[in-house]
Amino acid sequence: MHAIAVSKSLWWYTARAGGLTAWWLVALTVFWGLMLSTRVTRGKPTPAWLLDLHRFMGGLAVIFTVVHIAGLMGDKWIKLQVADLAIPMHAKFKPGALAWGVIAVYLMVAIELTSLFMKHLPRKLWRAIHSTAFALFLMTTVHAFAAGSENKNVAVQWTALSFAAIFTFLMVYRAFLPSRFRLLNGQFPDAPALG
Ligand code: HEM
Repeated sequence: MHAIAVSKSLWWYTARAGGLTAWWLVALTVFWGLMLSTRVTRGKPTPAWLLDLHRFMGGLAVIFTVVHIAGLMGDKWIKLQVADLAIPMHAKFKPGALAWGVIAVYLMVAIELTSLFMKHLPRKLWRAIHSTAFALFLMTTVHAFAAGSENKNVAVQWTALSFAAIFTFLMVYRAFLPSRFRLLNGQFPDAPALG
């Protein structure tokens, strides 16, 4: 009896675990990106693996978002249609809360694709799209709290609060850094090349 109940809920557990993992990975990727762009590591040559880690976490976030969505599609109780995944406000189940997730996926795909083809794109365009990553974090946070079952979970609440505070601090700090023009023109020879 118990085994049947667990297997019926397996898709739902997969969706929730995938969603939470993807959200944490989005937060860590943004954090790592800000660490690179604020040159917190300035003063020492930055090893290439630090940038690789940022890319790797971003890629993993995409993979766990796919796990999240696959779990939702398999869940017989929510009964999501393909159109619910593609069109904001289309779903019958919590349409507003899900719309944040749908838009976040579009943003995530745009950030990931432009990063993969970065070398073929104007740098300004790439940067404009890449800097929407903070908005991506905000959207997935609103989505997680509005749609999810774990919004009363203290670990989830603390994750949201601490990452939001750290990001705000790092972005203000970055605003007071010398302009990127100077950074990129060799004023700080040790600064890592952003990729
Ligand atoms: C097509 C896009 C998406 C749809 C339709 C969608 C749908 C849903 C639904 C129905 C839930 C509620 C699950 C429950 O009952 O607990 C949920 C929760 C959640 N979603 Fe999404 N989602 C999408 C995209 C995303 C993305 C891009 C992320 C993060 C990167 C994300 C992270 C989360 C998290 C963290 C939860 C809370 C899990 C919990 O509290 O157990 N979702 N989503």
